[in-house]
Amino acid sequence: MFTESASLRRVKPSATIAAGARARALRAEGRDIVSLDAGEPDFDTPENIKAAAIKAIQDGKTKYTDADGIPELKAAVCGKFARENGLTYTPAQINVSPGGKAVIFNAMVASLNPGDEVVIPTPYWVSYPDMVLIAGGEPVFAPTRAEDGFKLSPEALEAAITPATRWLILNSPSNPSGAAYTRAELAGLAAVLMRHPQVWILTDDMYEHLVYGDFEFTTIAQVEPALYERTLTMNGVSKAYAMTGWRIGYAGGPKPLIDAMRKVMSQSTSNPSSISQWAAVEALNGPQDFIRPNAKIFEGRRDLVVSMLNQARGLACPTPEGAFYVYPSCAGLIGKTAPSGKVIASDADFAAELLDAEGVSVVFGAAFGLSPFFRISYATSTELLEDACQRIQRFCGAVG
Ligand SMILES: Cc1ncc(COP(=O)(O)O)c(C=O)c1O
Repeated sequence: MFTESASLRRVKPSATIAAGARARALRAEGRDIVSLDAGEPDFDTPENIKAAAIKAIQDGKTKYTDADGIPELKAAVCGKFARENGLTYTPAQINVSPGGKAVIFNAMVASLNPGDEVVIPTPYWVSYPDMVLIAGGEPVFAPTRAEDGFKLSPEALEAAITPATRWLILNSPSNPSGAAYTRAELAGLAAVLMRHPQVWILTDDMYEHLVYGDFEFTTIAQVEPALYERTLTMNGVSKAYAMTGWRIGYAGGPKPLIDAMRKVMSQSTSNPSSISQWAAVEALNGPQDFIRPNAKIFEGRRDLVVSMLNQARGLACPTPEGAFYVYPSCAGLIGKTAPSGKVIASDADFAAELLDAEGVSVVFGAAFGLSPFFRISYATSTELLEDACQRIQRFCGAVG
């Protein structure tokens, strides 16, 4: 009989992938489902990027490459970090992996020993704790509060750090809350980190280009250059360039860590797709002019969703600075009775009853480590968002 390994037994499957699968199954049964659970832009990959990939195929760039990326892509990543973040990396300090997810996974596998702790603010992206567990480490959760815009305070960070802390994982703008840290907020966290030289920082900047209004994105190694020597600055083309299926993520960091991550890749995945790497070179070096208009579209959707959710009885939705998620509280509905007659005891019940009654698929907050909330992705058309929010309003109005 098959049994899972002890390390895999500690891991749960991704709740966001499960929510998507449930919605697809109901749709296949003929139900009218609106999915607000997807973590990817609804835009198509820009034509110049597709053309670069086609050219790579035609030019025969279809063979193995260096495990952690072609020199041309590493050079493009160095250019991006210098141009957009004021960070200087040499190509030897760059890792390219099959997706941002794989960058984080490779960093954890390359660095963690049993008992090493990784501080993860809640609510967190679903994969962080489980990747830490697979790598043999221990996730340590640092709670944030809706009143603080779901941002980690210096005090909460200080309280979470122990002599066993190896990493802090920061994610700004955040999946699932959309919260993004200002320069001053990052400086406050950096001051704490300066007192704990054993703690490295993995900053997940995947949603860098999706910030709204006059919010200015900054990343921690830029805010506190003294942390550069122990920061892995991670990013990727998935969200900014609508390239989720191409599977290219990258990071800049200290060379010994980058070398160790290459060793992991050399004995596991080997290189990311050669064709996707050439597409990513074009994404980073080519025209960037569609990024701002795309962000403007997301900003309009954010404003629509926040406004409509705040009109729903029992919900409270803060206005986040970035990404394409909102993280409303459903505290006002806990303990009340859904149209089905079932009592809503948790955010998981809320999401299940909403799907059942109105066919709207969202992801419950417990999956992200902070309840009672739920996550909505507004990376879908304005018409669908209006329809979904009307259904949510109807559902909340019917809860008694
Ligand atoms: C915060 C965050 N980091 C990393 C990733 C992974 O990105 P990729 O699709 O490039 O693996 C995601 C994707 O949803 C994300 O939301």
